[in-house]
Amino acid sequence: MNDNFENEMKLEFISKATNEAFARITVAAFVSQLDLNIEELADIKTAVSEAVTNCIIHGYENKQGIVKIVGKIKQNEIILEISDTGKGIENIDMAKEPLYTTKPNLERSGMGFTIMESFMDNVKVESIVDLGTKVTMTKKIKPKIEEEKQEFQLITED
Ligand SMILES: Nc1ncnc2c1ncn2[C@@H]1O[C@H](COP(=O)(O)OP(=O)(O)OP(=O)(O)O)[C@@H](O)[C@H]1O
Ligand SMILES: [Mg+2]
Repeated sequence: MNDNFENEMKLEFISKATNEAFARITVAAFVSQLDLNIEELADIKTAVSEAVTNCIIHGYENKQGIVKIVGKIKQNEIILEISDTGKGIENIDMAKEPLYTTKPNLERSGMGFTIMESFMDNVKVESIVDLGTKVTMTKKIKPKIEEEKQEFQLITED
């Protein structure tokens, strides 16, 4: 892997539920230039899916708006900013609590932020009521050569 590798992309799409898959697949394609394993890729796709769904369902409440994704790669770290200019979150700490949801009638389980936090290294939520919400998530990708070396050591240590 190139240690000085840096890249950036921006993606904007309207808040239609069908665009959740588009966003997830497009981010997966962007991050795949790093040497990810299947688990790391699945984690990122799930986190993107949760954040984009939140913009569509909560931010815009299914009215039309723009969801924006900025993706950055800095060496072995992936940084994803997913934002909307929708209704915003009144109490961010409460929203991040497991099982907290403002839409219990829509089959929401209130686990979106908890899932993002468990699958990514860091999740920052910024929001202003009536202005919108931005979620910034980061994940460090393990150098694969090292991983292979560790596995090799484990095998040969016995
Ligand atoms: N982009 C957003 N704009 C406005 N409110 C949001 C946004 N994202 C999250 N919220 C608020 O935070 C709450 C918690 O979000 P979270 O994703 O954890 O659960 P959920 O979306 O309600 O349920 P689940 O993700 O399990 O389907 C939401 O119910 C909503 O009130
Ligand atoms: Mg959610």
